[in-house]
Amino acid sequence: MAFTKYIVPALAIASLAFADKSCEGDKTIENQEDASGLSSCSTWDGDITISNVVNSGIKIDGVQKITGSLISKNSSITELSASKLATIGDSFTINACTALRSLQFDSLTAVKFVNFEALPKLQSLGFTKGVSKANRVRITNTDLTSLTGIELEDVSDMEITNNPHLTEVNVNQITNATGYINFAANHKDLKISFPNLQSAHNMTFRNTSGVSIPSLEKMDGLLGFYSNFFMDFSASNLTGTGDLVFADNSNLNNISLPVLKTVKGAFQVANNTNLKAIDGVPKLQTVNGALDFSGKFNKVELPGLKEVRGDTNIQSTESFGCEPFDKFKSDDVIRGKLTCREKQTKPKSGTDSGSDSSTSSGAADPSAQAPAGLLIGLLGTLQFLL
Ligand SMILES: *[C@@H]1O[C@H](CO)[C@@H](O)[C@H](O)[C@H]1NC(C)=O
Ligand SMILES: *[C@@H]1O[C@H](CO)[C@@H](O)[C@H](O)[C@H]1NC(C)=O
Ligand SMILES: *[C@@H]1O[C@H](CO)[C@@H](O)[C@H](O)[C@H]1NC(C)=O
Ligand SMILES: *[C@@H]1O[C@H](CO)[C@@H](O)[C@H](O)[C@H]1NC(C)=O
Ligand SMILES: *[C@@H]1O[C@H](CO)[C@@H](O)[C@H](O)[C@H]1NC(C)=O
Ligand SMILES: *[C@@H]1O[C@H](CO)[C@@H](O)[C@H](O)[C@H]1NC(C)=O
Ligand SMILES: *[C@@H]1O[C@H](CO)[C@@H](O)[C@H](O)[C@H]1NC(C)=O
Repeated sequence: MAFTKYIVPALAIASLAFADKSCEGDKTIENQEDASGLSSCSTWDGDITISNVVNSGIKIDGVQKITGSLISKNSSITELSASKLATIGDSFTINACTALRSLQFDSLTAVKFVNFEALPKLQSLGFTKGVSKANRVRITNTDLTSLTGIELEDVSDMEITNNPHLTEVNVNQITNATGYINFAANHKDLKISFPNLQSAHNMTFRNTSGVSIPSLEKMDGLLGFYSNFFMDFSASNLTGTGDLVFADNSNLNNISLPVLKTVKGAFQVANNTNLKAIDGVPKLQTVNGALDFSGKFNKVELPGLKEVRGDTNIQSTESFGCEPFDKFKSDDVIRGKLTCREKQTKPKSGTDSGSDSSTSSGAADPSAQAPAGLLIGLLGTLQFLL
């Protein structure tokens, strides 16, 4: 009885708050006055959009939660802050705001989708407390030098591309990445370390100087490395992947996957001009797709191989010995077609056009990113003209 006595007024207050029509709907902010008008709303139920007429700084004080999105597209906003805002229920979208120099979000910890694009003057995030919860993070074409402030535990999709000054990211706490992780065309010194990542779905890394995934055990989609600058790659706990690709990593001279047993898709190694030996996969047993190695290597060792269901293509400028592969073929370890060629002037990968050993696997390089800085360059010019 005593309990209901307290709960009824509490409910009454809650429903009163809900009925407060002044704190809901889709709000467009055209100036600081509009923004200040929201200060009595601890929760804003709906979207808040910064109008593209805004050309100065905007402070949204008081609001602790936005149930919908916070959006600024194509405005000349210079600064955006919201000191109390902790949660954005849907997206935090800032797109083509070429004058935006500063974000200050001291309390922000949870956002469904961080979506930042074409922010050529934005150099830091100002997420003081650190966003630890986000389903998706997409940051492309910014001037950010670090992603300090994005400190996720789990994430589904993470796309960090074309940030030419980005040298630092913190993905230390991520243990499970369920979607698509893509890093491309950031600063060439960017090294990415996932010290706690155990499982992932689909990850591609381009133009980085290092990728560390020491605890990763299993992937079910693509693990792809394209045009990176590192010399060594190792994943000491990785037992299985979907497709596995190392392409165009010009300094790479050592691939070490000591416990890799199963590649459910294709395994492709191509155009890594300094890779002399492919001998770092001693436990590899099964490749369900194609096995496709081309390059300048003089050694290929696959001592644990039991089954390749797709075609096998091995071609090098050097001699490496085709006999073991002929034996794999006659022993029916290699189920598909075998193409083994030594001392080729132009070794071909199974996916190169004109190659006579066609593979049907999905190991082809998914579309490369637009060149770094192109959009920023264009926007910069536009702004200069204005
Ligand atoms: C951006 O805003 C400017 C000026 O308000 C307008 O002329 C332009 O068409 C807008 N561009 C886009 C892509 O919305
Ligand atoms: C990772 O997340 C997926 C989807 O939420 C879940 O099914 C899986 O069990 C998780 N894996 C680990 C190792 O936590
Ligand atoms: C970045 O990677 C892409 C895709 O692999 C490649 O086309 C491009 O040349 C690379 N850029 C640099 C600077 O390495
Ligand atoms: C690798 O796996 C082993 C056995 O499961 C585990 O004890 C070890 O901590 C893992 N290493 C890393 C760096 O996570
Ligand atoms: C990985 O994700 C990318 C982007 O969503 C997609 O194009 C590609 O097909 C995916 N690959 C695999 C093997 O899941
Ligand atoms: C390749 O890297 C692995 C792991 O880091 C190391 O154990 C091995 O000695 C290296 N091989 C060569 C030839 O440097
Ligand atoms: C290897 O490089 C050549 C020449 O740049 C290119 O035509 C080919 O598509 C590349 N192959 C792969 C699998 O990256």
